[in-house]
Amino acid sequence: MRSKKQPKKPLGERYAQVASDANAAHLARGDAFASAQALGYSQQELASVPHEAMEMGLGCGNPTALADLREGDVVLDLGSGGGLDVFLAARRVGAKGRVIGIDATPEMVEKARAFAAKGGYKNVEFRVGRMEQLPIADAAVDVIISNCVINHARDKAAVFKEAFRVLRAGGRMFISDLTLEGPPPQADSPGLEIWSDWLAAASGKQEYLRAMRAAGFQNISILAESPYSGPAVCKTLEGKIVSLHLKACK
Ligand SMILES: C[S@@+](CC[C@H](N)C(=O)[O-])C[C@H]1O[C@@H](n2cnc3c(N)ncnc32)[C@H](O)[C@@H]1O
Repeated sequence: MRSKKQPKKPLGERYAQVASDANAAHLARGDAFASAQALGYSQQELASVPHEAMEMGLGCGNPTALADLREGDVVLDLGSGGGLDVFLAARRVGAKGRVIGIDATPEMVEKARAFAAKGGYKNVEFRVGRMEQLPIADAAVDVIISNCVINHARDKAAVFKEAFRVLRAGGRMFISDLTLEGPPPQADSPGLEIWSDWLAAASGKQEYLRAMRAAGFQNISILAESPYSGPAVCKTLEGKIVSLHLKACK
């Protein structure tokens, strides 16, 4: 007899499926427009980007709303997914600026490139790559943004070291991300199956901030912090996941 339990897919495969299947993103977020507004995107912002990119938004905040982007800035988005934050940043930095999105899932990059072409964006670029080993030259960017991605990295020290390397002196970084607060739950607690990869990589707030400081970041500030809840958050994790919005400088 076959077991009813489906084997769990690796993270990359799951994001590839989300990228390839429009419904998967909807299922992950329910009403995309309302979810995006709840995360801090304004109606005006959402109306300004390709609709499909908005629907594929999988973030836990709106780092572009925190970022003091200036015309001409070169911006890098770590884990750009369908490109929602890249497209928002692109409007702010204008024709003289540039926004580069990096994502480890080729299917996500393909989608984001298609949305960029459809939206006629001339100042954006999407590259396949891992944030632990960025395909970007030293000191090449003015601003780094990232939305709900670094939490996936088991080696956060490597991510922040790379972010520091590619940021120019005086550059800024704006992150929306999730941390785990309190003792980690028992691995076999009900509802945790889909969170097991996340839990294996999750770190607490202090550990996260320590990794940023160790990489060399200065003036690290928590701009906002709130308990994270969503349809996928099971009882065991309720109140344990914290949504953090951070700024740091080089
Ligand atoms: C929760 S989604 C967020 C996507 C996007 N930032 C947004 O707000 O919609 C996480 C994204 O991070 C990407 N990702 C996961 N691990 C990564 C890594 N090590 N390097 C680069 N991208 C990664 C996934 O492919 C996925 O697109």
